[in-house]
Amino acid sequence: MLTVLKLGGSIITDKDLPETVDSDAIERSVDVIAGALSSEERLVVVHGAGSFGHHYAAKHGVSSSEGTYDASAVTEIHRSMSDLSERIVDALHERGIEALPIRPLSVASRTDGDLQFPSEQIAAMLAGGFVPVTHGDPIIHDSGGVKILSGDEIVVSLASQLNADRVGLCSTVPGVFDEDGDIIETIDNYDEVAGALGESEATDVTGGMAGKVRQLLELDVPASVFDLDQLETFLADGTAGTVVRGSE
Ligand code: IPE
Repeated sequence: MLTVLKLGGSIITDKDLPETVDSDAIERSVDVIAGALSSEERLVVVHGAGSFGHHYAAKHGVSSSEGTYDASAVTEIHRSMSDLSERIVDALHERGIEALPIRPLSVASRTDGDLQFPSEQIAAMLAGGFVPVTHGDPIIHDSGGVKILSGDEIVVSLASQLNADRVGLCSTVPGVFDEDGDIIETIDNYDEVAGALGESEATDVTGGMAGKVRQLLELDVPASVFDLDQLETFLADGTAGTVVRGSE
């Protein structure tokens, strides 16, 4: 059983204060993960940036569409993501989870718009019983220099390459809301929820629920969108919040 879980940047950091972790939320997440992970289960953790990477990306005008050739700017953004990732990895170690870091800047790239995220290293770590931890990061593109790769896109790439059984995005919202403000239980068609999601731009891949849902629909396993209160349920049952079912 392989689970790919994203911890959204907005739950593990204080979004309003630059480079400030939300220690309570990290501890809570890691406690739940430690309580749920049995020795046969395999887990990949992906995390977002929150007030770490986004702050430096904005400072240098770098986004998923705007690139840079300034190596010191890239390094500053990356260093901040590495710092955040170390906090997550350390917290996992403190709970006895054998977590190992993977840095996208060092291994991933984008060619003709397609993400190249090698999964061999991660598969080998999983086979060795480790929990790979990776994160949104600046990565090199074949045109335009270095741009931002979101954790959401990493989740989709790794879940499909590694044939994950379960996919979860844990963020600050308990699921995807419909137009009346109720949680939608299941989404299997983008057009049915496009109105509620409020926008339909295919380029929205780094933020916003529309981008998340679009990407999750590409997977052939169900993916759940839920909040920290439901992390335990997701890890126990495999689904929580809103379940996005693509081409199963
Ligand atoms: C963004 O990752 C990475 C950088 C800004 C370097 P995400 O887009 O996955 O981050 P969150 O979850 O929205 O904070």
